Amino acid sequence: NIFPVITIDGPSGVGKGTLSRRLAKILGWNLLDSGVIYRVLALAALENKIDINREEKVAVLAEEIQISFINRKNNFFVSFNGKEIKKDIYTETIGNYASKIAVFSKVRKNLLTYQRTFCQCPGLVADGRDMGTVVFPNAELKIFLYASFEERERRRLHQLQKKNFGVNFKFLFSQIRERDVRDYNRQSAPLTPAIDSLILDSTHLSAEEVKSKVLMYIRESL
Ligand code: C5P
Repeated sequence: NIFPVITIDGPSGVGKGTLSRRLAKILGWNLLDSGVIYRVLALAALENKIDINREEKVAVLAEEIQISFINRKNNFFVSFNGKEIKKDIYTETIGNYASKIAVFSKVRKNLLTYQRTFCQCPGLVADGRDMGTVVFPNAELKIFLYASFEERERRRLHQLQKKNFGVNFKFLFSQIRERDVRDYNRQSAPLTPAIDSLILDSTHLSAEEVKSKVLMYIRESL
């Protein structure tokens, strides 16, 4: 990589998004939330009535995708092919569709070069499942963020209770668990820590504590 890269990988609901956004802001670096790419792709497939079980068709759509993360007043907005996305892509339903198309190796291959274009001056914080293993294997610092399933469930519940009481939690958690199993066990780029990553167990840490620890790792390694 011409510019330095920090990768943050880990399972869903572990706090990668919060951490990577905070780091990108503090460092003034670019951000790649790669989960957003899979989510937007799933949404685009649904909106274009493309069957998400058809690898070839979704792979073609993946070749055309263009997303930007716009940092406006220190909040990151997502735009797709030049238009801002107003729909909620962070629902568990979209997350589940995203993980279904994420098993296709042709889709992943077609997204590879595109994801690497995010590595621009002065540096990049990239979060996802395979940032340290596949997309940026030469990253300067690789973090694998971990938290127990129960803790991730608790955090998700807290987050949703702030937003929406009409959620069926049992169903939601079964969907997250299903997504986890799919992400850990797929053939193509399964969720696993890169051998040269630092594994950070955040089960008993606050978001603030996680951020401080990672900032310390950054100071030591860059
Ligand atoms: O991180 P997020 O929950 O937004 O990701 C949604 C889904 O996209 C994940 O469950 C995973 O299947 C897929 N994904 C992936 N590789 C990445 C990022 C996300 O396969 N680098």
